[in-house]
Amino acid sequence: MNPTEAPDIEDIDLSDLSLWQDGPPHEIFRELRNRDLHFSALGDFPREEGFWSVVRFDDIAEVGRDWETFSSNRSILVVDSIAAEPGAPDPIDVSAHMMITQDPPRHDRLKALVQKEFTPRKALDHADRMREIINLVWDQALENNPDGRLDLVQDVGIHVPAMVIGDMLGVPREDAEQLVDWTNRTSAFEDPRLVPDLSDLWTAFEEFGPYVDAMITEREKCPMDDLTTAFIQAEVDGERLSHEEVLMFFFLLMVAGNDSTRATFTSGMKSLMEDPEQMEIVRSGAVPMEQVVEEFVRFHPAFAYMRRTATRDVELRGAQVKAGDKLALWYVSGNRDERAFDDPDTFDVRRDPNPHQGFGGGGRHFCLGAGLARVELKIWIEETLKRFQTIEPDGETERLSSTFLNQWWKIPVQMS
Ligand code: HEM
Repeated sequence: MNPTEAPDIEDIDLSDLSLWQDGPPHEIFRELRNRDLHFSALGDFPREEGFWSVVRFDDIAEVGRDWETFSSNRSILVVDSIAAEPGAPDPIDVSAHMMITQDPPRHDRLKALVQKEFTPRKALDHADRMREIINLVWDQALENNPDGRLDLVQDVGIHVPAMVIGDMLGVPREDAEQLVDWTNRTSAFEDPRLVPDLSDLWTAFEEFGPYVDAMITEREKCPMDDLTTAFIQAEVDGERLSHEEVLMFFFLLMVAGNDSTRATFTSGMKSLMEDPEQMEIVRSGAVPMEQVVEEFVRFHPAFAYMRRTATRDVELRGAQVKAGDKLALWYVSGNRDERAFDDPDTFDVRRDPNPHQGFGGGGRHFCLGAGLARVELKIWIEETLKRFQTIEPDGETERLSSTFLNQWWKIPVQMS
């Protein structure tokens, strides 16, 4: 093939990071939505099997709901292993204990244990504390950058969710970011800036484990009013969670609650900055803030995909999927499916209804923290716009290198 010629779409490997340098490759997804199911080779991981891409809104919903045919067992990533080398300790072996990597009935029992802590009403109970945290983080960011020139991701984005979830779990505020750093490295395994070597992931696990172990032991002796104590005391079928399961609940909430809300807030603010008309609509209160949040999540789903594994041979959108095959449910594509949304590539906070798949396609694994995230994002946008008259881009942005995390890593801004 002539090197300047674009590769045939059938040969494209969606795990190729060069396609993601400026964000999700929406043009490729648009093309794939009009074709039979596409297969990617997963070229950067030669020991791994490739994966099918589920890209249409309806297909994502169907696959997500059919857990008997499309299992969540073991891994939500398209890779089965992130061990540094064959036989080396593998974080995926440990994270397979999380409920997000399990199927019913065990998944449902585990979820039922924590669901009552995450109802929309419970989320509202955290509103005042969230407002306090958001203002604390803004105060700190301005103290460090008195001219208002700062990085929306590093100076603000990573701190707010870390403290919100950290508080809920009972982590002292001064330790929250260390925990986030340990856990988020796992999901950012593709970015050499965060994970120079895959063996670093295991090192992070080895540091995270003893820290949380100590917290668990402390609460076994002396229960507190936090989620860690709730996990220890919870029973599934008359049985307490094992030590490892408590650890993994903790880990899951850290990963799911941080990577996500940070990505959605910072990307959504970037969209507002780039479109003064949209910014004005939001500032004027012409649409409810709840609706603004939904468009943030539709346009910038924090997790580009979640993986499922076929449990039997099945035909899907023109492809013969075999038992054991991997499938990526691309929420970044479902949320731009022209069959489900008018003018899907336009960021428009007036969009209503907005039945997006940013929190999942509606199956058993639908985001546990959706209620919490909705309240957190609403307050975060409100407080930010209240505090600053203008928010402007102030330099080159940088993406996190990932096909899983749909995130910016650097967004320089001028706040005034
Ligand atoms: C904007 C913010 C968020 C987004 C976009 C988001 C997105 C998602 C997505 C796409 C899934 C997987 C759905 C599936 O595969 O069917 C998920 C699952 C999950 N999320 Fe979120 N999430 C967010 C915030 C949060 C927060 C704040 C928490 C917790 C405090 C949280 C906890 C979870 C958990 C525990 C799961 C696994 C649920 C299960 O396996 O049943 N998420 N989230």
